[in-house]
Amino acid sequence: MCGIFGYVGTKQAGPLLLEGLKKLEYRGYDSCGIGTFDDGQLHVRKGVGKIDEVEKTEKISGVPGTTGLSHSRWATHGGVTSTNAHPHTDCQKSIAVVHNGIIENYQELKKELQTKGHRFTSQTDTEIIAHLIESQAAGTLAEKVRAATLQLHGSFALLVISTNDPHTLVAVRNESPMAIGLGVNEFFAASDVMPFLEHTKNAVFLEDGEMAVLTKAGVTFMDVKNGTILSKLAKTLDWDSQSATKMGHPHFMIKEILEQPAAIKNALVQDPEKLDRFVTLLKQHADVKFVACGTSRHAALVGRYAMNQLSGKSAEVYIASEFSYFADQCTKDTLIVAVSQSGETADVLVGLRKAKAKGAKIASLVNVAGSSIDRESDVCLYLNCGPEIAVASTKAFTAQLSVLYLLAYTLAGQKNAGIAHLKEVARHAADRLPKWQTQTQKLAESWTQHEHVYFLGRGVNFPVALEGALKLKEISYIHAEGMPAGELKHGTLALIEKNTPVILINPHDYTFSDTLSNGMETKARGAKLIGLSDSANEAYDEYIALPKMPELFYPLVAVLPLQLLAYHAAVLRKNDPDRPRNLAKSVTVR
Ligand code: AGP
Repeated sequence: MCGIFGYVGTKQAGPLLLEGLKKLEYRGYDSCGIGTFDDGQLHVRKGVGKIDEVEKTEKISGVPGTTGLSHSRWATHGGVTSTNAHPHTDCQKSIAVVHNGIIENYQELKKELQTKGHRFTSQTDTEIIAHLIESQAAGTLAEKVRAATLQLHGSFALLVISTNDPHTLVAVRNESPMAIGLGVNEFFAASDVMPFLEHTKNAVFLEDGEMAVLTKAGVTFMDVKNGTILSKLAKTLDWDSQSATKMGHPHFMIKEILEQPAAIKNALVQDPEKLDRFVTLLKQHADVKFVACGTSRHAALVGRYAMNQLSGKSAEVYIASEFSYFADQCTKDTLIVAVSQSGETADVLVGLRKAKAKGAKIASLVNVAGSSIDRESDVCLYLNCGPEIAVASTKAFTAQLSVLYLLAYTLAGQKNAGIAHLKEVARHAADRLPKWQTQTQKLAESWTQHEHVYFLGRGVNFPVALEGALKLKEISYIHAEGMPAGELKHGTLALIEKNTPVILINPHDYTFSDTLSNGMETKARGAKLIGLSDSANEAYDEYIALPKMPELFYPLVAVLPLQLLAYHAAVLRKNDPDRPRNLAKSVTVR
């Protein structure tokens, strides 16, 4: 994971890099650093903690110069220490490197370099890159980086500066994202477009095995393998840099939760030609496999259900990290539906590449246009919900559901009916959000003592139970389990005791009476029952009212109070809901 951001131009790099890096902090935030070139030497400052904390103690933005690079880390190799924070330098302190990814052969390379006399100060895989570049025979920085890169195995997005090639920033991509921003007399390289969006809307996305050499005069793109110059097309970005600010809210997460009525509607605005192509692929392929992780997988579970109910089309849903073990079964009759907010999740990318190699077609749903999954798909629909910054995914989930319902309705030949229903759902969501805010805050207040919470649902509501539990776990650190209500008595019921909170996702639909019975079974063992339904019942100790709507759409509204509950529980426990411990938003390592 990790976020990297580099700059070459006429402005002071330190403050600009600091501001940009904060927009990448969702990718990792255990330590950070900035390196610049000025007056013939490198200046590196770094430290442990979130960016604001490190800036306070180390003044990292105070490094001088108009060329630089920066990094926000999510540790893989080496503990969370100031020495292991990036940038890393070579023996002569003439080369600085920041890296996102994993160098698989770093141990072999390190041994070789040590034999040649290189001295290492960190435990990271990244440091070997600086030494490997240093060990190359004479040449420009770009030539040395290219030669060194050819020896690296693994996933990496790299930025490099050197005292020997002043005012040059070299960027390389292999299996980790890299976007190049094209400004006027200033150029940017970053893990995604967010850090440079306020400076330029023109971007080029590097592909695997490509590099870029940035100077004040412009950018040259090259193929890493043979060094040939590439001509690449720039893309105009349509995201607004304002949408990546909190806009007066205390956290990105609450802002994004409250944006969901708009997200549901905006997701419906799809390119008709791409929507048709997606649906045609669904019709043409007998074997449809959804591949996704975390929240996106929960959306896929609802999507599979909606498709099956509306058009009889069946599909399987795979956890992306497990899919690789089944990818050999793909054929030209397979359609992979990749669902991902970031479009960069490594496990999804690996899965879809394996499936592609077997002849499968790829149709995807992503939020980040130009992301790797977007570029590697035969057709890709966008979620159109604007940048999602909080690590816990909220508006991307409802936007994914909205597009999946749209696909299911279009597949069933009822596109307009689907759109009308979804607009109605968005209206209900907007009406109810203020009430749910107050209710869930109160509920969270009464929960400070609880360490375990269970979420139960059946049918189309089961993925909502999974999602409610995931949200609560990842930001409040309360242990939670979501499961099909019918499965409870096959083991987990043993954990229910006096006052254990059990949340029943129980709209008055075809699952109602069975789910209620399962709730009663927990109540009989002392559970505190919280009913999430459009039909009140005396069994509920707490009741969160849902609006009435067509059965299939309950997941879209039922998830909202659960997101709010997780948010309030996190805030009450004094956790930062935007940056939960140990996690990062875009999981670009396997
Ligand atoms: C959700 O709150 C999580 N942070 C996480 O499960 C996320 O949904 C998962 O990593 C998948 O990410 P993607 O949608 O960007 O592929």
